[in-house]
Amino acid sequence: MDLSIYTQTFLSFLKEEVRIKEPKKLYEPVDYILQLGGKRIRPLLVLMSVNAFDKDYHKGLQASLAIEVFHNFTLLHDDIMDAAPLRRGQQTVHEKWDVNTAILSGDAMMILANQYLEHYSGATYKKLMVLFQKTALEVCEGQQYDMDFETRNDVTIPEYIEMIKLKTSVLVAAALKMGAIIADASDEESEALYDYGLNLGLAFQLQDDYLDAFGDPKTFGKQIGGDIIENKKTFLVLKAKQALKGDDLMLFNKYYNETPKDSSEKVKEVKKMFVKSGVVEAVKKEIEAYTQKAFRKLEILNISEKSKNQLVEFGNYLMARSV
Ligand code: IPE
Ligand code: IPE
Ligand code: MG
Ligand code: MG
Ligand code: MG
Repeated sequence: MDLSIYTQTFLSFLKEEVRIKEPKKLYEPVDYILQLGGKRIRPLLVLMSVNAFDKDYHKGLQASLAIEVFHNFTLLHDDIMDAAPLRRGQQTVHEKWDVNTAILSGDAMMILANQYLEHYSGATYKKLMVLFQKTALEVCEGQQYDMDFETRNDVTIPEYIEMIKLKTSVLVAAALKMGAIIADASDEESEALYDYGLNLGLAFQLQDDYLDAFGDPKTFGKQIGGDIIENKKTFLVLKAKQALKGDDLMLFNKYYNETPKDSSEKVKEVKKMFVKSGVVEAVKKEIEAYTQKAFRKLEILNISEKSKNQLVEFGNYLMARSV
């Protein structure tokens, strides 16, 4: 089965819709980040979801663009907050231009995302807007928790899961639910798809945390060890703190509260302790468990086997990803 049809259709639409206007300094970074690539998983999910309910998936194109532009806006601001130099193998917007540019172009993208949704009307528009605004605010909440946790040493795993649900999962889930809304699916089926997205989103962020430490620098496209440098309380960190004892734990805590000028030793030592404490296996198990939980949410859906298989194929693709 080939999911690339959705991505291809989305990319042609994106190319037509996103144009550089005056003032150039506002719109060039918008074009830059949107053309840099990325996996395009959120637009794919919108389109796949419309198609799952036997509607023409082209109906989801405006919503898929809205959600991808919104996602890319969050990346501009996230990269400022995370002091990230690289995105998709290229300079981040605040590095290539400056912080003010990344703030304002990001703001413009947030507004553009809302405008793309104006394509819809009536009850569909209302439902899409309610979902979209709620989701956008939740992403802000998640991002605030993510930053609060940098300076806390007592973050629990349930708190971490809640944080990644807000910063990442709700948008993945909303992409699927937007497709269901556009396809006029029942509330029950929309919710099931949303829950599939929530669980897949958790697996997705766990994988992102894993790759941030252990991804291949040649292909991952982001600075390896960025989360360690910023003292992010990822699943790897919380699990390592549970598993390590005595001197190992003391050493880990020492490294994880420091912000040295040259972070290469810190990154190297923390990764060593991740391996030693067995968190690599633990995170993989957790990713698998959330993915299986996501698949179970599909059971009540009254859609074709073919569509269900696409949703399962997508979950398996996410688990196997290295970028
Ligand atoms: C990055 O999202 C931010 C996270 C929620 C982890 P993606 O991994 O979907 O980024 P792109 O769009 O494919 O680059
Ligand atoms: C992503 O969290 C959440 C949002 C962008 C809203 P990360 O900070 O882990 O994302 P990356 O790793 O920079 O893509
Ligand atoms: Mg980041
Ligand atoms: Mg972040
Ligand atoms: Mg990350």
